Amino acid sequence: MMINRTLNIGIILLVIHPIISWANTDKVSPRINTIIATDNPQTPLYLATQSGLYLAKDDGQITLLSQEKNNLTALAKDNHKLFSGGQTSEGANIGLGTSEDNGKNWTLSITPSHFTGLSVGKNQVLYGLSNGVVRSNDGGKTWIKTVQVKENIYNIAASKTLDDTVYITMDSGLLVSRDGGINWKPVFPVSLPALSLTVTSKGKLWTYIAGKGLIMTTENKPKLDVVYNGFGQHVPMHATVDESNHESLYILGNKGQIWLTSDNGKSWDRLGGIPKPQSTVAKKGETLFNQYCASCHGNLAVGESYSVQSLTDQKYIMAPALDGSAHAWHHTDEQLTNTILKGSPRTVRMPPWEKSLTKQDSLDIITYFKGFWGRRELECQGPKHMNCPY
Ligand code: HEC
Repeated sequence: MMINRTLNIGIILLVIHPIISWANTDKVSPRINTIIATDNPQTPLYLATQSGLYLAKDDGQITLLSQEKNNLTALAKDNHKLFSGGQTSEGANIGLGTSEDNGKNWTLSITPSHFTGLSVGKNQVLYGLSNGVVRSNDGGKTWIKTVQVKENIYNIAASKTLDDTVYITMDSGLLVSRDGGINWKPVFPVSLPALSLTVTSKGKLWTYIAGKGLIMTTENKPKLDVVYNGFGQHVPMHATVDESNHESLYILGNKGQIWLTSDNGKSWDRLGGIPKPQSTVAKKGETLFNQYCASCHGNLAVGESYSVQSLTDQKYIMAPALDGSAHAWHHTDEQLTNTILKGSPRTVRMPPWEKSLTKQDSLDIITYFKGFWGRRELECQGPKHMNCPY
């Protein structure tokens, strides 16, 4: 089977920059580049953002950890040590940062170019993404260039249990090296983009493969076991595990939402919580949405999840997210109602619903999914989106 690379990669790359999209929307929120678990459930995550390192609480509130407001593009943790890489706001390489006090103070060392990924493996071997894969056996003082890869590498994760074993994710899939980064081979016989990736201290491997879903497997016997494919149009970009709960996983989606599971992917929550419908109208809308719309637009209106067909068939039009993360908010309620009742002229996949639903039903559904919208989407809905101050 041929995969149309330009098509599927285009979809993913267009929407690669996450933005914090929960609570505190009055403040200018920094874009999150990557996340690492702290292993403390009350303050579960470090967030490497475009303007510094933050700590996220379980209610979704965030606090700035260090004074430097660099664009942190890589973050890794090894017991109590944190490593970071990135650029200053002017674009200069900051080298490798090492912190032994949970991210407050950093010592910097010089690196060849800036890191877009970092991971600590067995015996404290440090791996980085820096125009290919680089490795340091001395805690980051000196670096060996192992391989130059032309494709974009999204993530790197070193094994904590197997010697010299390291994984990367790219548009062509999940690759493994068993010799410290020199030779690479695909882990699975599929050529689909692999994105988020993490390996636990017990040898469990989590990765997201677009078209398949979230995979949970073991390093010893990797199998393409899909545990969940309900992220809709939110693409899992980065993942991290709370090492105090081996059934946990945190995922940073490309729209800035952080998803979490504490039962191996059976049930999901979001950092900061998922808004629940409050009014009778919204609750009525929820029931109708789940009955008529969720099969395509996803649970919680996250949009249609990627399938192999949606990535390979250029004519396939996916059902967009209606939760404020796509552009449904560029339309007025009147226009949205019109689409719902009359269908889309572009595809029979969005049929007219006027035989099953009244205008009021459609407005109730809109009230329900607008419950997921943030301040920007609500205040700038319709033509105002062209000139939105938020
Ligand atoms: C069989 C799949 C399917 C079902 C069921 C479905 N939709 Fe859609 N919907 C789509 C597709 C595909 C599109 C994209 C159409 C396009 O791009 O022209 C779409 C587009 C839309 C849009 C336009 C969004 C935008 O950003 O312009 C709205 C609103 C919408 N659907 C609402 C609903 C509602 C409400 C329901 C339930 C009553 C529903 N849809 C049921 C497939 C579906």
